[in-house]
Amino acid sequence: VKNQRHYSVMDQICLGMDQVLRAVCGHPQTSHRPCPGKEEAEPVLTREQQKHSAALMRINHAGEVCAQALYHGQGLASRSPWIKEKMQQAMHEEGDHLAWCQLRLQQLGSHTSYLNPVWYAGSFVMGLTAGWLGDKWSLGFLAETEAQVVKHLQSHLQRLPVADNKSYKILMQMQEDESHHQEEAIKAGAAVLPEWVKKLMHVMSRVMVMTTRWV
Ligand SMILES: [Fe+2]
Ligand SMILES: [Fe+2]
Repeated sequence: VKNQRHYSVMDQICLGMDQVLRAVCGHPQTSHRPCPGKEEAEPVLTREQQKHSAALMRINHAGEVCAQALYHGQGLASRSPWIKEKMQQAMHEEGDHLAWCQLRLQQLGSHTSYLNPVWYAGSFVMGLTAGWLGDKWSLGFLAETEAQVVKHLQSHLQRLPVADNKSYKILMQMQEDESHHQEEAIKAGAAVLPEWVKKLMHVMSRVMVMTTRWV
């Protein structure tokens, strides 16, 4: 059933603020899938391994905060209701990722990044810009982001302590979802971004990864 309700500007501002707070404070809208690996027993990890897993999961959590912000920004700027709806669907799956990473960080006795509001703000502006450029560029930006995330997750899957099955299963499911988001964006008409934009995106994500590992 299509949502026919008309939202006033004030409604939209309130809904937007709600989305921001949910993403930054860790209560995103999700698609209610159970956390992968939840049936696995807590692995026995050394202190070093636990810290290492937590650092990787903090990075992934921050990445998901960025994903929320990108989708919020793009959704706001996009002109096509069809794309808005598609983005909403993917955003709920990103909400699952955010919730799973947060849960895993708690289980590992660690905290989410203190810089998340900064990452949110930066990504929101990027999403808004991409959306403002038009749907094919917005989708192109999305497809490229997801492609880079899939590669990044692959490296994290290899770097996790072997015993940490719980984190492993979460990252595996995330990788599958991100790859699906990429395919959907391409199917919906994503433009291929210029190489320099791809490189710039990669450099920016490296800055986030390097910092978030520690704070
Ligand atoms: Fe995600
Ligand atoms: Fe995604």
